[in-house]
Amino acid sequence: MTTPRQRLDDAVKIINTFLKEKDIPPSTAIAAAVAGVTTLVGASVYLYPETFLGIRRGSFSMGIAGMLQRHAARRRARKPIRVYMDGCFDLTHFGHANALRQAKACGDVLVVGLVPDAEIRRCKGPPVLNDAERLAVVESCKWVDEMILDVPYDINEQFMNELWHKHKIDYIVHGDDPCLLPDGSDAYAAPKREGRFKTIKRTEGVSTTDIVGRMLSASKAAENDLAKTPGSKSPFKKSKKSAVVEDVAEPAKKEHFCTTSRRVLQFSDGGKKPSDEDVVVYVHGAFDTFHAGHVDLLKSARALGTFVIVGVHDDAAVSSYAGAHYPILNVNERSLGVMACRHADEVIIGAPEVVTRDLLATFNVAFVVAEDSAARSPNAPAPAPPADPNAVPRALGIFREIKRGDGPGADITTKEIVSRIVENRAAFEERNKRKGASEAKYYELKNAGEIESATEE
Ligand code: CTP
Repeated sequence: MTTPRQRLDDAVKIINTFLKEKDIPPSTAIAAAVAGVTTLVGASVYLYPETFLGIRRGSFSMGIAGMLQRHAARRRARKPIRVYMDGCFDLTHFGHANALRQAKACGDVLVVGLVPDAEIRRCKGPPVLNDAERLAVVESCKWVDEMILDVPYDINEQFMNELWHKHKIDYIVHGDDPCLLPDGSDAYAAPKREGRFKTIKRTEGVSTTDIVGRMLSASKAAENDLAKTPGSKSPFKKSKKSAVVEDVAEPAKKEHFCTTSRRVLQFSDGGKKPSDEDVVVYVHGAFDTFHAGHVDLLKSARALGTFVIVGVHDDAAVSSYAGAHYPILNVNERSLGVMACRHADEVIIGAPEVVTRDLLATFNVAFVVAEDSAARSPNAPAPAPPADPNAVPRALGIFREIKRGDGPGADITTKEIVSRIVENRAAFEERNKRKGASEAKYYELKNAGEIESATEE
């Protein structure tokens, strides 16, 4: 039987013979052996850290990722990334809010440029809401940090340099839809040339044009109903035409926006929970086409407590008190509009119109808030029974009626917005025809894969 010593001597002899035959110097052989053993040990420790070092698999990579993250956070704390998004934000909707949410995710501080009425008129046609009304809603969006007013529709060289140097902007962001000037040129050509332009994914299924279209269709349908049943009262302000509107063939556009659970999570920032110390205020209503009046109401509600829960009534409830052709936006769309507002902490999607004891107890409500009756449009029909949806909180002495504040645009209502469109039907139909055609073209090219879409942030 051979001893271990003899086996080692035999192995050394075999290796020596091999090295001589191949003419390999012993120093090279030793270096190769050391490298081989080191690689083997290194790979084993990397693959089986639990066995060799008693630490968990993945700890190395997690450690390095953590270091990089801390480094990025320190760097961003020293110099936050400032992104700029501009727009008209007319009839400010949840598609705009989603654009602002994504823009904010591109950096640390979101600066929003609001295009003024005159510029919108020059480049797109008449806006529905004025500067102050658009400003109030955009400013209330929870992802907006700073605002710049009176910005040009196109980013010309001079304004671009002002953004870089005066406002310290790092990137300009816009949705992935083409944004063209009246002469057909690209409004963002200058920042694109400088490589400081980012695109975010446009939210499908909603646009100002689409909402204006829904309002025009709803008012046409209401006028036709009215003409068929003389003596009935319209939920819309009368248009200049009183006879049956002939061209009602164009059906109300079916919204093709899909509310996903992910979108709700994004808009609610993962969801907030009131603490035991919070004073919960419950404010409820339709919140149709979220506007400056709603912002004002939520601000007043917040002043009464520390945690604002907003009940967004379901579609059937809104139709029952506002008229058969309301709401303009469905309950999911209206809820997203509210969720984007910094003054709302939690939203009940499809809340009942009538406030019950059970609702008050479930959400630990300290005060219930609604608008004073003066805010109702004179054309609104009398509320359907039960006449007072706030009877329970009123009896408990926790109901507070809020007067409209005197903030900019605070006196606007959804019905007032619809009236503006109905009263200027011809101008808005003309604008919608143009905008609708370019939107249809955009969707056609996109669905054919001819437009490169951005990935959603
Ligand atoms: N936006 C979006 N999704 C929408 C509508 C707008 O992401 N459904 C983005 C635009 O791409 C732009 C920003 O919101 O970056 C502001 O848009 P705005 O200037 O108001 O113009 P439009 O793109 O014409 O918006 P709309 O069609 O709703 O009027």
